[in-house]
Amino acid sequence: MTSTVQETQGVARPVYADLRGRCGAVTGAGRGIGLAIALAMARSGMHVQLLDVDDAALLEARTLIADRCPDVVVDVARVSVSDVDGVRDAFGRFVSTTGSLDVLVNNAGIAANASSLELSVEQWRRALDVNLTGTFVCAQAAGRVMARQRRGAIVNIASMFGVTAAADRAAYCATKAGVVALTKVLAVEWADRGVRVNAIGPGYIGTELVAALVAQSRLDIEAVRRRTPIGRLGAAEDVANLALFLASDVSRNITGQVVVSDGGWTADGFGVIGDL
Ligand SMILES: NC(=O)c1ccc[n+]([C@@H]2O[C@H](COP(=O)([O-])OP(=O)(O)OC[C@H]3O[C@@H](n4cnc5c(N)ncnc54)[C@H](O)[C@@H]3O)[C@@H](O)[C@H]2O)c1
Repeated sequence: MTSTVQETQGVARPVYADLRGRCGAVTGAGRGIGLAIALAMARSGMHVQLLDVDDAALLEARTLIADRCPDVVVDVARVSVSDVDGVRDAFGRFVSTTGSLDVLVNNAGIAANASSLELSVEQWRRALDVNLTGTFVCAQAAGRVMARQRRGAIVNIASMFGVTAAADRAAYCATKAGVVALTKVLAVEWADRGVRVNAIGPGYIGTELVAALVAQSRLDIEAVRRRTPIGRLGAAEDVANLALFLASDVSRNITGQVVVSDGGWTADGFGVIGDL
């Protein structure tokens, strides 16, 4: 397996030769991290399927990827990740067009920030439905195809808040910790079918979502930078690069792992309280 690295706009762009011609689905691919992952996969020569609930975002994402990567299939499916029949049908259509489903990136996810004394059970159930049930539904539908193929790689986008905690994020932390646990179970169950399952735990990533929170004064970006040992937020491309690595045969000996990409946030138990 060969891999090379090209430098582009400050972020390295790895190219894994084995991904060329393979077929991958990305959920929540209309914007943000999911779009960056789908674009990185298409740039690697993969045929891609974008799944999202936002029609307009899907169409924009398809145009963007098709313009930059005219040689690959770019399929879109407007479906919620927890819609069992919709997800099965979408993957089935993609496989009948491209011939296989080699990679699934479970990226769709929502926040549900609220004090645990105030969080409504509806907010809790919604986060559970998208973040954890959606990840299971898509993994199961893809896993059935991959087990038949005896080949596949699933990458679940969890969060650093799946391995550590923060106040006012009961539903988010619990669902992302659930994604980490699910990753390990599926990895162990499907290893002998040639299907690897890993998770990524991003720290703060400079997406539109984060920009919107900053604009609404709901996130102190300077405090985030100070709290992060590396001194900056991650980029969506950092997560995309890690997803490519975990999707590629270059990582063939890695399964059941969560790789945290957080600029050192979770390693630093000291934070920013000063000398003691
Ligand atoms: N941005 C960060 O700093 C950060 C940090 C850690 C983890 N994450 C995780 O990364 C993932 C992507 O985050 P983002 O910042 O790009 O989010 P985003 O809100 O910018 O994009 C999420 C996309 O998912 C789609 N989506 C929402 N519900 C869906 C559903 N039920 N079915 C299908 N699609 C659905 C949305 O329409 C949207 O296009 C999430 O799982 C998030 O929890 C993000």
